[in-house]
Amino acid sequence: MKATNSTTVSAVAASSAAPSSSRDARIATHSHIKGLGLGDDGLALPSAQGFVGQRAAREACGLVLDLIRMRKFAGKALLLAGGPGTGKTALALGVSHELGHKVPFCPMVGSEVYSSEVKKTEVLMENFRRAIGLRVRETKEVYEGEVTELTPTETENPLSGYGKTIAHVVIALKTVKGTKQLKLDPSVYESIMKERISIGDVIYIEANTGAVKRVGRSDAYATEFDLEAEEYVPLPKGEVHKRKEVVQDVTLHDLDMANAKPQGGQDIMSVVGQLVKGRRTEVTDKLRGEINRVVNKYIEQGIAELVPGVLFIDEVHMLDMECFTYLNRALESTISPHVILATNRGQCTIRGTEYEGTGSGTGIIAPHGIPLDLLDRCMIVRTLPYEREEIKEVIRLRTKVEGLAITDDAVEKLSDEGMASSLRYALQLLSPAAILSRTAGRSEITIEDIDETDSLFMDARRSARLLGKSEQVQEKDQATPMETS
Ligand SMILES: Nc1ncnc2c1ncn2[C@@H]1O[C@H](COP(=O)(O)OP(=O)(O)O)[C@@H](O)[C@H]1O
Ligand SMILES: [Mg+2]
Repeated sequence: MKATNSTTVSAVAASSAAPSSSRDARIATHSHIKGLGLGDDGLALPSAQGFVGQRAAREACGLVLDLIRMRKFAGKALLLAGGPGTGKTALALGVSHELGHKVPFCPMVGSEVYSSEVKKTEVLMENFRRAIGLRVRETKEVYEGEVTELTPTETENPLSGYGKTIAHVVIALKTVKGTKQLKLDPSVYESIMKERISIGDVIYIEANTGAVKRVGRSDAYATEFDLEAEEYVPLPKGEVHKRKEVVQDVTLHDLDMANAKPQGGQDIMSVVGQLVKGRRTEVTDKLRGEINRVVNKYIEQGIAELVPGVLFIDEVHMLDMECFTYLNRALESTISPHVILATNRGQCTIRGTEYEGTGSGTGIIAPHGIPLDLLDRCMIVRTLPYEREEIKEVIRLRTKVEGLAITDDAVEKLSDEGMASSLRYALQLLSPAAILSRTAGRSEITIEDIDETDSLFMDARRSARLLGKSEQVQEKDQATPMETS
């Protein structure tokens, strides 16, 4: 184990952006949330860090943050209870932002655990490990600078005769002190493609592993309107070739995956192996145990530091008894992330208890569908519906973040929609309305666009009312076979 591990950690850092991209998309609608927006006294500011209103809940989350910082939150969980679109996910994200830069945030939905291929507890375990970060500090020999030249050189493929392969790649790196041209192995070119590096990016290449890491875009390329996704960095100082303290953030899940993946060469078997890459059955308990051991050793040696992140389980009432039992145990474990649960249900049946006891088929009814022993560990925070002014301000915030122009009446109209259905619904209307106004050749979203979007799409209440009785009948039809099967 010992010899391979330092390389796996580095290799993972280069590829760690890829696996979580679909989860990033899930939190894109919350990109305006940068924290909880609390003052120094712990009281919520009316509007700060992207957060508007919901003050009591934000202050409560702030208190939980203090508990976390004082290490008094171990074994507990935060439960956010409130209607849809009242900012539960936003609050969880705010908490993770407040915990610090690059603290993992792993959102999941309760129903994700139901898969025919993977055990429920396995899915939970995987998400637990996604939410635990490891920060590794190493001093490494690197080449760092802004890319000024990137030229791959092609040759005939010696193996197949068809197509070309990359023979080598020439990269020129610039720092404040000077420029250096490097001729590198084709494998480095692959990681360059993976990191989507282009001219003008600041990167570093590790001298002995060839791992490539994109630091950011050189600030010489910064425009007036900076793109939200870009991080601009200054031109590195010093020589191109130097020793540098490299800080890598990986999650335990990244390490599991990197060590489970077959690492092949250039032959045909490795091509086939790559097709089924990410096969879930490969991460075994034994492998996790081994990784935990190595990680513990790193921590003891002071090379690495554990960064517990936030595991957010939305619609927690969808979990069943087996999962709740697992959760209880996992919360007790020494390496556990901070767990935030969310639900929009009041009293409901705990899943997986339906057929026990009396045989009445109703099962055990509990608050939020959570067993009492887990509820006991939860600090419960309620989120309340928004006022019209608050909805209006969030809409304004989102239009700014998405770079949309909108007229005042249109904002008023959207706020009305938000009051009538939910904040989420009002925000969802924004993007289609933007498309409609662009199609019509307008530069701003107007009230007509909102009206048109509103006639095309329906909020839940309206659609339910329209379908009326027929839907109720359908629901009954569906419910019966599910209960008897
Ligand atoms: N207090 C708030 N301030 C700013 N934006 C908010 C606030 N509450 C909710 N939002 C935004 O409204 C949308 C819906 O909220 P969300 O957190 O998904 O609700 P929930 O998880 O309770 O269903 C998201 O885009 C979220 O970022
Ligand atoms: Mg949510």
